[in-house]
Amino acid sequence: MDISTLFFLLCLLQALSLSASSKTFDTLIGTSLSVEKPSDKLVSANGEFSAGFYPVGDNAFCFAIWMTKPSVPTVVWIANRDDPVDGKGSKLSVLKDGKLHLTDSAGSVVWKTKTEALTTSEASNLQLQLMNTGNLVLYNFSSVAIWQSFDSSTDTLLPQQLLTFGTSLISNRGQGVHSSGYYKLFFDEDNALHLLFQGPKLSSLYWPDPSLEDISDAGISIYNTSRAALLDDSGYFWSSDFLKFYATDFGTVTQRRLTLDPDGNLRLYSLQEMNGIWDWVVTWQAISDPCRIHGICGPNGVCTYDHVSGRRCFCLQGFKMKDHSDWSSGCEPEFSISCNHRDESTFIQLAHVEYYGSDIDFLQNLTFQDCQEECLNRCNCKGFQYRFSLKDGGYDCYPKSRLLNGLRSPNFAGDLYLRVPKAGISNHKLPDEEFRLQCSSIVSKQERSTYENKTVKLLLWFATAVGGVEVSCIVLVWFFLLKTSKRPDSTAQGYLGLTTKFKRFTFNELRKATRGFKEVIGQGAGGIVYKGVLSDQRVAAIKRLNEANQGEAEFLAEVNTIGMLNHMYLIEMWGYCVEGKHKLLVYEYMEHGSLVENLSSNSLDWKKRFEIAVGAAKGLAYLHEECLEWVLHCDIKPQNILLNADFQPKVADFGLSKLQSRSKIDHSSFSRMRGTRGYMAPEWVYNLPITSKVDVYSYGIVLLEMVTGKSPNVMHTADNGEIREHKRLVMLVRENVNIGTTTKKSWIEEIIDPMLTNNYDKAKMELLVKVALQCIAEDKDERPTMTQVIEMLMNHED
Ligand SMILES: *[C@@H]1O[C@H](CO)[C@@H](O)[C@H](O)[C@H]1NC(C)=O
Ligand SMILES: *[C@@H]1O[C@H](CO)[C@@H](O)[C@H](O)[C@H]1NC(C)=O
Ligand SMILES: *[C@@H]1O[C@H](CO)[C@@H](O)[C@H](O)[C@H]1NC(C)=O
Repeated sequence: MDISTLFFLLCLLQALSLSASSKTFDTLIGTSLSVEKPSDKLVSANGEFSAGFYPVGDNAFCFAIWMTKPSVPTVVWIANRDDPVDGKGSKLSVLKDGKLHLTDSAGSVVWKTKTEALTTSEASNLQLQLMNTGNLVLYNFSSVAIWQSFDSSTDTLLPQQLLTFGTSLISNRGQGVHSSGYYKLFFDEDNALHLLFQGPKLSSLYWPDPSLEDISDAGISIYNTSRAALLDDSGYFWSSDFLKFYATDFGTVTQRRLTLDPDGNLRLYSLQEMNGIWDWVVTWQAISDPCRIHGICGPNGVCTYDHVSGRRCFCLQGFKMKDHSDWSSGCEPEFSISCNHRDESTFIQLAHVEYYGSDIDFLQNLTFQDCQEECLNRCNCKGFQYRFSLKDGGYDCYPKSRLLNGLRSPNFAGDLYLRVPKAGISNHKLPDEEFRLQCSSIVSKQERSTYENKTVKLLLWFATAVGGVEVSCIVLVWFFLLKTSKRPDSTAQGYLGLTTKFKRFTFNELRKATRGFKEVIGQGAGGIVYKGVLSDQRVAAIKRLNEANQGEAEFLAEVNTIGMLNHMYLIEMWGYCVEGKHKLLVYEYMEHGSLVENLSSNSLDWKKRFEIAVGAAKGLAYLHEECLEWVLHCDIKPQNILLNADFQPKVADFGLSKLQSRSKIDHSSFSRMRGTRGYMAPEWVYNLPITSKVDVYSYGIVLLEMVTGKSPNVMHTADNGEIREHKRLVMLVRENVNIGTTTKKSWIEEIIDPMLTNNYDKAKMELLVKVALQCIAEDKDERPTMTQVIEMLMNHED
């Protein structure tokens, strides 16, 4: 019997679940699996796993275990990931001493099991079996496991596979590149699980958040020395350092894997079926703000992240990308500073830029001048971080020897001062767009203290975007911009250009901008809105708040938070003014005013209406979910959806109804009814807990209004109060949908805005109504989230 038949029989027997009886094979010694025979592989009894030679490149193979289910196999374990063998003559053999050997065509051993050598008699009757769990086990005649693949790991931990002090996960180098990457999950000396960036030249821990003074603030215990972690089949992960989390689909029986992805994030996946296609879905991830992962943009690089464009890297001015195919090499300076001439260098301020680590020193309560001196006096100082410290009420100074783990986020309340030669470097302005940034890092600051098992909300995005987002062509365009805007100019100008747009205005400035508050363009929650032209010629909408009872400190705190919420479907706040009793907010001006005016003036065709529905949903999803439900709008209505020159919608007036951290939602603080009659969810009326679903409800009413052209409030026939009024719009729609097609017209024709005069995409408008009806379900739990709304609307588009 030749070897391949032997293995064929072995596989067959396993497939027949007769694994125990496969001991009928006298011995495996001298047998081997050959790279040249695709049939030379082991398959688990349940058919879910295969083990054999897996192609990793041109004429390059690894001995691997993979999951068979999705059409593209998922590799979960590799024997020789950094040392592939060629496609001729390579084989995996069982030797006389009972060890597995992987040899290449030249016969040299590229991998072998590190078990104790067995005597020939002990080594006879060995059996290699791929278990249903994905564990490849070498058993001896008494069914004792001599070796198993679960004792070592690659980038993936499977359910029932113990992660211990001795094992670790190391990411792949890239998507589909199976060699060892730069990220590692392991139990450190402190008994806690950590994520480590282990670059070619340097390494640093980035999870749990290294800026925590005490790891126990993250709920981590360092006292259990057993150092073990396990994922079970139902999606529960547990570790001896007290880290615990559940998959979002906890309890479902499906295949799962915990993988340290090439981007440095640890994600739990489960195999789910959608429309007959099996695919991996993320059901938990360790880090919500991908810029918090170290090493992402390399030395001197800066990471930015937002929901729309994903994660991006760029180089600071005066730097260029080192390796155009790989951000992990970062950026290199195009200038040099000689040490003897300290007077030849100066500093450029980079607002909201943070570089983590590599501090030469940490100096508390220092003036800016002194901090600058500290850096100038040190030859290796590349710049310094200067930030206000709430704790000691002064500014802290961190001179840096290297610029690593860079990120820019408006939520980072400090600046970086980059040391550059006085003679000048390339001078450019960072595009405004770069300042549109994440509010997820507000959260990551707030929630640093907990493992972020709440982040699964974002995962849908990640699941689709994980590979593609990081280095987009935007970076190249960026780079191009940097190069072309190079001017041998003084650095002072660059300094100005870099100050952020969000600013505090004086009352006089705004009085001038509005020419004495002449042109009223609206009246929103809590104040009157005027049109104004700022000193830099930008047209602005300036809202003068009614004499609020809110204190100045509270106002400032809120304004700063709102100012950080930047998203293409949210109105942008440019600044504010607080002077005595005057409190004003400065927003971008929206040429086309609000949705309500546009609906009544019939300036919106069905296409625009649909796009507005999608855009408004995206803005709200950002508020609810990107910010991890930090912000509830509480007053969604057509008056608060504004349209710019291109009819792109932007949600306005958010955040004024008090920002609430999800954990801190205290129903009593919401006791005052908010919102506008007609759009208010039943929770307000029945005094039920207020969640983001109140916005979903109001959004649903807005959708109905967009389709029917009927306002819930115009419908009212007097006496019985607001709830009944808008029920009538809702009832009108529900009745028609339920009746379905009448003799002549379909239901959509019955309710559609007559202004659309049969000029519309029926399917799209019907979709809007269907989504709207889900949004206005009486029971808040039956309403979709805004992200689900977007999905429903977008899926239809394809
Ligand atoms: C199998 O391995 C166990 C543990 O090493 C040993 O005690 C036992 O004798 C072995 N059985 C055979 C048949 O070699
Ligand atoms: C320490 O971890 C082990 C598992 O590795 C667990 O069985 C044990 O209960 C833990 N000890 C304490 C005190 O929590
Ligand atoms: C910070 O320094 C200033 C001037 O050097 C001093 O007046 C102030 O008390 C210091 N503050 C703290 C908290 O040390």
